[in-house]
Order: sequence, then C-alpha cells, then structure tokens
Amino acid sequence: MGVTDTTMDRLVSLSKRRGYVYPSSEIYGGINACWDYGPLGVKLKNKIKRFWWHAMTQMRDDIEGLDAAILMHPRVWEASGHVAAFTDPLVDCKKCKLRYRADEVEGPRCPKCGGELTEPRQFNLMFKTFMGPVEDDASVIYLRPETAQGIYVNFENVRQTSRQKIPFGIAQIGKAFRNEITPGNFIFRTREFEQMEMQFFVRPGTDDTWFEYWREQRITWYHALGLKRERLRFHEHGKDELAHYAKAAYDIQYEFPFGWKELEGIHNRTNFDITRHQEYSGKKLEYFDEEMKERYIPYIIETSAGCDRTLLTCLVDGYDEEEVEGETRVVLRLSPKIAPVTAGVFPLVKRDGMPETAHAIVETLKKRFDVFYDESGAIGRRYRRQDEAGTPFCITVDSETKENETVTVRERDRMVQTRVKIADLTRLLEEATAL
Ligand code: GAP
Repeated sequence: MGVTDTTMDRLVSLSKRRGYVYPSSEIYGGINACWDYGPLGVKLKNKIKRFWWHAMTQMRDDIEGLDAAILMHPRVWEASGHVAAFTDPLVDCKKCKLRYRADEVEGPRCPKCGGELTEPRQFNLMFKTFMGPVEDDASVIYLRPETAQGIYVNFENVRQTSRQKIPFGIAQIGKAFRNEITPGNFIFRTREFEQMEMQFFVRPGTDDTWFEYWREQRITWYHALGLKRERLRFHEHGKDELAHYAKAAYDIQYEFPFGWKELEGIHNRTNFDITRHQEYSGKKLEYFDEEMKERYIPYIIETSAGCDRTLLTCLVDGYDEEEVEGETRVVLRLSPKIAPVTAGVFPLVKRDGMPETAHAIVETLKKRFDVFYDESGAIGRRYRRQDEAGTPFCITVDSETKENETVTVRERDRMVQTRVKIADLTRLLEEATAL
C-alpha cells in the first residue's frame, strides 16, 4: 500500500482500537496534542527505549547512563541559550484569533478566514512554572525542553565517578516539554514527549571524524529496528538552518504520510555547551588529557532522537493492508524485537485438554516474553486480531499436540505455519527477539 493521508487516519483509529495510543483526558474532551499510551503502546515504547539503551549503553564500554531531574536550576536555561533564543516567530489572526508560526503562513492574511494577521513576535517555547509556595519572578523555573542539559551539567560528575577518559559519552532517556505553536500529526509533534539523547565528548580536532562515525551508527540503528531503508534518508543542515551552537548537523528523516520529516538530529555542538556552563556556573569544567598533556573544553557530538516519534515511525512503517481470501487483512509488521506481544497462544478448541496445555505454555513463556492467551472465537479471527496488534507469532495447541508434544507456530508476515516441539518454543522466540 502506498504512503497516503488515509494511512494516518487508519493508524490513529487502529491505535485507539487496539490500545496503542489514546487521546489524553478523553472523557473531558481531550487536551490538544497530548496523548496517552495504552497497554500495547506502553509495551512498544518500553521496548523501543530498551532497544536504544542496549545499543547506546549496554553494548558500549565508552558510554555511561544518566537520569537527571526534569526541573533544573533556572540559570541552566540562560547558559544554554534557551531563555534568549528558544523561540518561534508567531502571528495571530485579529479576526478569528487563530495562531500560526510566522514561517508557516504566506502573506499578511489568515489562511482560514482571510482576517488581518498581527506583526510576528517571538514566543518562547519553554513551559514555565513556580517552585515553592511563592509565585513571583524569583521562583520561576522551567520544564526542560530537552534532556541534553542534564547531561552537560553532570559531565564532571560522571567523568569522575566512572573514570572515563575522552572520548566517552553519556546517554539519557527522559521527558521533555515544549509549548509548540503548531503541534500535530498525531504523536509526531506534541507538547510533552520523550527524548533519547546521547552526548559524546571528544578532543577538539577529532570532532569531524566522530561526527561521521555517529551519523553512520545512528542510521544503522534505524535499519536494525526493521524500518524500510528507502523511507530513511539524511538531510544536511544548510548554513541558514544550523542552530546557534552547531558547526555541522544532519537530520535522519523518515518519509511519513505527511512528507519527509525529522526523526533524529545529529549535531556537532563544538565546545559551546561546556564553555557556557563553565562561564555561568563559575565552576572549572576543563578536561585534562593525560595522553596529549593538554587542557581543553571538550567538543560534543550529540545524537538526539524522539521516542514517541520513533514509535510513530514503527507504526507507520509496519502498517499494511492486503487482500487475503477475499477479505482485507490489516497487519502491523513490527520487528519481533519490539513487538508489544511476542506470541499469542491459543487452544484450537476449548476442550480435550487443549486450554490446559496452552495455559501451561503461557506460564513457561511469560517468564521471558510478552505472551497473550486467547481462546475466544474462530482461530482465523484470533490470528487476525494478533496481526492487527503486530504480534509476530501465534502458537496453537491442537489435537496433534497430545500425541507428539508439538504445536503449530504461525508467522504473522508470511502466514505460514510450522510444527514445532513445545520444548523448542523458548529458543525460537529467543532467537527472534535477541537485541
Ligand atoms: N538536544 C537537541 C534537541 O533537542 P531537537 O531537534 O529539537 O534537538 C530532537 O529534538 C528530537 O526530539 C527530534 O528529532 C524529535 O525526534 C524529538 N522532538 C523534538 N520536538 C518534539 C515534539 N514537539 N514532539 C515530539 N518529538 C519531538
């Protein structure tokens, strides 16, 4: 099936129907651009995060993990440049009061009602709140708009406790908040989202090489996630697109039904961040390189991915409809490494000891895998329900099971069934889900 707008509508409806993503506070009419992850959604999200964490920390001796607080000292955001420059130009329609990002409208008139638009003014995207009981200017703090700063302010702590030497990295997964003017496209751009960021600290002069290295590593990660290669590409930032701190930047883009859009940003941030935090905090953050016998402020190569956006990409990429025996089969072709449920386990019928055997299989498998028992409805219907939920395998106990301790294993994508010994199920699922 082609990549169309209808795909998005169908995906939003499938997400709701199957318990991937619900509109937030739905019984109150919802809240714009906020979403809740349901039973399957939270499993998928956790598995995506695990897939990232495994590649970015567990498999690497040169990257440490971190989980910094969302609320940070307000000076952090002055040092980072967010107070002064984390803004979007905004225009309001004087007639219908609709608000637009200035770069999204052409001319002086409202695209909806034709009313006159105001002059553009800068709007800061950071959410403000107050710390403590007094709501005055002195108690203003921000919800972090990126997780990166939590890493920079902990650079010295992590370096000392882990005894890492440059080059090394710090990785973090966590919530970020932006008061986006134009959120939308389902969970693509929201006001509350999760980032998976890694900051790699390097010696000045080696930054170009490391930048190239991380660019390759990160696209390879998306390939390993099972995404279609032809829908992934790099976009190099031109001089006018580069952030104030960046020397070079590439986005990894994905071809969504609404066009090629950023999935992840890879930046060469130079020594901007640590220099600024040294200046604003008054604490020495220079690094002494024992091998080179020199002191310097490290350069940073950043890889910054969105967890929600990756999840949306997996749903878009995996969504498929095909004709099978005169019926439309909806199937979510998620990689077994991240599929919320790895296997459905079914008794063919509700008698002859089949449910008992199926339950026993579930009890064994659930220690290691996400499995789901289902005995209701015809077997074909049960397969279809799992196809739509993205479950890669369905295990069925039938009349032959009693005779030779085997079950059928049906693959979601090819719909082929093979007979497998019950004793071999764990190994089969282990091989399919290995990170
Ligand atoms: N520390 C660098 C940084 O935050 P960014 O390009 O602004 O860079 C990185 O954000 C990633 O975070 C994006 O590629 C995207 O995946 C995700 N992201 C950013 N804003 C988002 C939003 N409003 N909703 C969902 N994801 C978002």
